[in-house]
Amino acid sequence: MKILIATDKPFAPDAVKAIRQVFDNAGMETVLLEKYTEKSQLLDAVKDVQAIIIRSDIIDAEVLDAAKALKIVVRAGAGYDNVDLDAATAHKVVVMNTPGQNSNAVAELALGLMVYAVRNFFDGSSGSELLGKKLGIHAYGNVGRNVARIAKGFGMEIYAYDAFCPAEVIENDGVKALSSAEALYETCQFVSLHIPATDETKNSINHALLSKMPKKAVLINTARKEVINEAELVNLMEERTGFKYLTDIMPKNHEEMVAKFPNRYFSTPKKMGAQTAEANNNAGIAAAKQIVDFLVNGNTKFQVN
Ligand code: 3PG
Repeated sequence: MKILIATDKPFAPDAVKAIRQVFDNAGMETVLLEKYTEKSQLLDAVKDVQAIIIRSDIIDAEVLDAAKALKIVVRAGAGYDNVDLDAATAHKVVVMNTPGQNSNAVAELALGLMVYAVRNFFDGSSGSELLGKKLGIHAYGNVGRNVARIAKGFGMEIYAYDAFCPAEVIENDGVKALSSAEALYETCQFVSLHIPATDETKNSINHALLSKMPKKAVLINTARKEVINEAELVNLMEERTGFKYLTDIMPKNHEEMVAKFPNRYFSTPKKMGAQTAEANNNAGIAAAKQIVDFLVNGNTKFQVN
């Protein structure tokens, strides 16, 4: 059996070593395709493999068509909006993710961005503190929970809204559960986004919602760029001169944002929330083990299609 690790944004070298070890132990061959620049390289690499580990790499119908021997794709990470699930199902390919494995890394970055915001992008001017401030966690999944745990250490007052997670689960963590996104944005000076990109959430973070936030609002996005209505965010930031937006996913209108809001907008150059040695190891090894368990034992526990 041949397994492809296809990562435009590579794992840490030690994580690759550990992933290879899992496949070596199972008598499977590992092939590595990193930092590829053309889709044709991916199309070529998938031809004869039974399994693929990816990160934010795009697996669409064309890739699935080219992967004649493919049985399983594992997204080493949480969000699988980069995989065409319907096409995978039509090709009888199982798709899995590795929930929770990189959540702490993303959550630490979210708090890091909050500190960067309130200290005025480390420009030397007098900033403010997170202690006692209201933080709204938009979606209380694995990352949201870790954000709550870390934010408690900062002494923040923590609120969360999640359309699917029961209020008792949120309240059990000492976090105040709110019953709507509107209530969360109305209540909290800081909002950290942890919603997936779905048909329902795309463009949903819009002017109407953001304009509810209190003065000196800070919006942190370590989730997906697609959930933001970028044009409406620009309008809002033009109207609300104290509003800051910090993101780990560079928006399409990055240049415009930099030009218009140099002291209130920041984007990492490349999504780096999960880009730690620990997260690479956790998610990569979990993905490898899930592949072996599926190919050898038929275990479909983390299947998402
Ligand atoms: C995820 O969905 O797991 C995160 O967004 C991390 O994505 P990455 O593996 O591309 O860094």
